[in-house]
Amino acid sequence: MSANLCPHFPSFGSAGAPFSATILPMQKQRLFTGLQPSGALHIGNYLGALKQTTELLQSAEGLVMIADYHALTTLKDPSELRENIAGVVRDYVAVGVDPKKAIIFQQSSVPQHTELAWILDCLVTVPFLMQAHAYKDKVAKGLDANAGLFTYPMLMAADILLYDTDIVPVGADQKQHVEYAREAAVKFNTAFGETFKEPKEKILDAVAVVPGTDGKKMSKSYSNTIPLFGTKDEIQKAVMSIVTDSKAESPENVYNIHRLFRDREELSALYKENKGKYKALKDALVEDIEAVVGPMRARRESITDNDVKAILADGGERARAQAEKKMADVRNKVGVTI
Ligand code: AMP
Ligand code: TRP
Repeated sequence: MSANLCPHFPSFGSAGAPFSATILPMQKQRLFTGLQPSGALHIGNYLGALKQTTELLQSAEGLVMIADYHALTTLKDPSELRENIAGVVRDYVAVGVDPKKAIIFQQSSVPQHTELAWILDCLVTVPFLMQAHAYKDKVAKGLDANAGLFTYPMLMAADILLYDTDIVPVGADQKQHVEYAREAAVKFNTAFGETFKEPKEKILDAVAVVPGTDGKKMSKSYSNTIPLFGTKDEIQKAVMSIVTDSKAESPENVYNIHRLFRDREELSALYKENKGKYKALKDALVEDIEAVVGPMRARRESITDNDVKAILADGGERARAQAEKKMADVRNKVGVTI
């Protein structure tokens, strides 16, 4: 529902056939995204999700969340979790999210998320949740999936739906989760009346799946990452470990990462000039990554513990106010208010 903020704007009419056009104000899109505090970020996280988040936040209203309850599905170490939560706040600010504009907050500081997740859990079936990739992968590997992992998509749906989200910038592997959020919105709206907007994932094709040092998808679980906020030495070490195909004229795996940091024409000139010189090309890639990451790393290091606490306290308060407004409506619609 969008209120007309220009009530005095004249509506047009033509004689005989009454016609009135409602002039809607330009409304900012609402953005929501989240990261699990489950360890250090890699350049796949930055290029696939964070970079476009900061770009979209130039013109969208937004919330960026630290998904600490989602992380509990895998992480059982309180001091590591605490450290990672503060780390994600630093990451968001370092990549350019402005905490005065966007709301940076912890999922656990807004209990309305778990509250809504329960209501959504009661609307979906077990076979529906059994289709989730994260759950299926774990079962396929013969591992025990906990109930939190099984219902993960409904907590994520609650995260997104509580804030009337339009767009969810993420990497390709989160597409299914956003589809779940849309389905949950439809199921709720059908059962209880129009309440939730249907959100859309925002995935950039060129960086939907950033390759790792072995050419497969860059992922913590494959140990093929280039750390985003590692030292230059750590970045260098990771780049030097990129698997090169000694038969190829140009090292594919190096090129496929490099093309994400430099424009295509410059890059083909560089690769032509350095045919077969893998070390030189890797050195050039380190410098290109460093040019992007260096200033962000410096910003990250300047964020104090007190800054982190202040950002989370303020973000939590602002997020709770919005979430509670929505939940009051939801409680009323499902009938738990008497
Ligand atoms: P994760 O912590 O791996 O669940 O990822 C956090 C965010 O980064 C999600 O939006 C992912 O889709 C995105 N992401 C993770 N790995 C990659 C990758 N290799 N390429 C592109 N995006 C990624
Ligand atoms: N599942 C996301 C990931 O692992 C994290 C996440 C939780 C999220 N809630 C979200 C992302 C809501 C976008 C929107 O990366």
